[in-house]
Formats: sequence, structure tokens, C-alpha cells
Amino acid sequence: MICFLNGDYLPIEQARISPLDRGFIFGDGVYEVIPVYARRPFRMVEHLQRMQRSMDRIGLANPHSIEKWEALCMELIARNEGENHGLYIQVSRGVAPRDHAFPKESTPTVFMMCNPLRAAPAHWRTEGAAAITARDERWLNNDIKSTALLGNVLARQKSVEAGAVETILLREGMLTEASSSNVLIVRDGLILSPPKSNLLLPGTTFDVVIELARRHGMAHELRPITEAELRSADEIWVTSATKEVLAITRLDDQPVGEGKPGPVWRRMDRHYQDYKREVTGCEAPQA
Ligand code: PDD
Repeated sequence: MICFLNGDYLPIEQARISPLDRGFIFGDGVYEVIPVYARRPFRMVEHLQRMQRSMDRIGLANPHSIEKWEALCMELIARNEGENHGLYIQVSRGVAPRDHAFPKESTPTVFMMCNPLRAAPAHWRTEGAAAITARDERWLNNDIKSTALLGNVLARQKSVEAGAVETILLREGMLTEASSSNVLIVRDGLILSPPKSNLLLPGTTFDVVIELARRHGMAHELRPITEAELRSADEIWVTSATKEVLAITRLDDQPVGEGKPGPVWRRMDRHYQDYKREVTGCEAPQA
């Protein structure tokens, strides 16, 4: 795998950063994961714009213009084998003597790599997947796509240990998001999701889903969702760049609705796959 580190393209095994990098010491950085299908990035500009917003939120000067980032992404894709990737970008505040305060001068560390984007297991499509719930114990700036992910890591590990694919988070009895995805529910045919706020990441996949709902006249509403509404939903979906739109059919070991992917999910998934094909020319139904 060829990665990009501070201007150089090199095999990942040869990439070296200083242990004084603030990304390593403090988790002081931001990141993105851009899905790439048939070598074509999906919603790249939207990801790069969100990265700009994350940098603005932490007072980190973006080392590159959006156009330059696009060129770097395309170059990295060209230098790697494989058709489908999760293109990872990380920018940290750079190397400096350890001190919580921002260094007066530092050069951001820029790291990029192409991880293979694996196709979703076939049974997720037919049977859906299991999730658990947990208390959202993270900080109050989850709209920043920060590399400081310990709260998300601990949340995700709970579902690993329960044999589930995601941990859906509840803060004071209200749905926020999941450990590495956004959450939507369906009740009586209506698609519902919590509105964007500091409590959750504004997902690029979520935005596609809302756009598609509008385009295809599927009823949706953004409003706070209670734990009771989540637990009695007809359908639950999680969305992310790597999971796309995944139907959750068991929640805390209870069936969701009829316990299989529901009709609204089937419709949305079809629109999503069509849209992906339209944008990337990718013929495969999934990554
Ligand atoms: N995670 N919420 C959280 C906490 C996330 O980490 C992610 C994505 C999302 C969905 O965002 P998007 O649709 O733009 O991928 C929501 C990525 C995939 C990751 O950390 O690997």
C-alpha cells in the first residue's frame, strides 16, 4: 500500500512520524474517510468541505486548498492497486514539544492512505444486522471529525463483545448517533432522524440519504428522537461512508419491526445504489 505523508508517496511500512506529533500525543487532529468505487471518489468535495469545517472548529489552518486535496486524492488512488478504497486523510497539528497549548509555530502533519473497501456481507442485505445501545458518554463537540476517538472506540467495543455491528448511542434518553455511523429510524412510513447539532457528526452518507428521500418523495423529518421511539421503530438504519445504508434488524437482542430489512430501507437502498452508479459509473451493486 502506498501512502502519502507530508508530500511524499511511499510504502506504508516506510512511513515514519515523530512520537511528538500532536496527533499521537493528544489526538489533536482531524480526519476523513472517503469511499472510492471503481477508482472514483464518492462525494469527495463534501468530505473535503467537512474536513475544512473540522479544521476551522479546532483552529487548525488547512495546509491545502480543496483543489489541491482533490489532486492529492486522485494521485494516491492512481498509485494504489485495487478498485474500491476507503481513502483515509488525517491532518494533525504537527510536531512540537509536549504542551497542551497550541504551539506558536508548527507544520500540520498530513497523512493519507487507501484501505480496501470491503463489500458488505451478503446476509446484511437479506437479513440486516444487529446493534446494541449504550449511553453516549462522549464530549459535546461530536460535529468535529476528530482523531480523538476514545469515546467512539469504547462504544464500538461494547458491540463487538455483544456480537453486534454497531453501538447506537443515547444521551439523556435521546438518540444521537452510533459509534461510527449516523442513525435514522422509520415509523409509520416516515423517515426520522435527529437534526444536526454538536452532539453528532454531520454524515456525508446521511446527506445523500436525505437528498434521495427528497428527490423520490419519501417522507422524512429531522427532529429529536426518544429512546422509546427508537425501541419501537418499524425500521432502524445506520449510515456511513463504509457501511452505506445498513438495516439494523435486532436491537439489544430484540427484533426491530418484523426482524428483517423493511420496505422503506429496500426502497432507499435501491435509490442509493442507483445514485452511486450514476455518480461513479460503478456497475457493481456494492463496493
Ligand atoms: N465514520 N458518525 C460517526 C461518529 C462516524 O464516525 C461516522 C463515519 C459517521 C458517518 O459519516 P459519513 O457518512 O460521512 O461516513 C457518523 C467513518 C466511516 C470512520 O470513522 O471510519
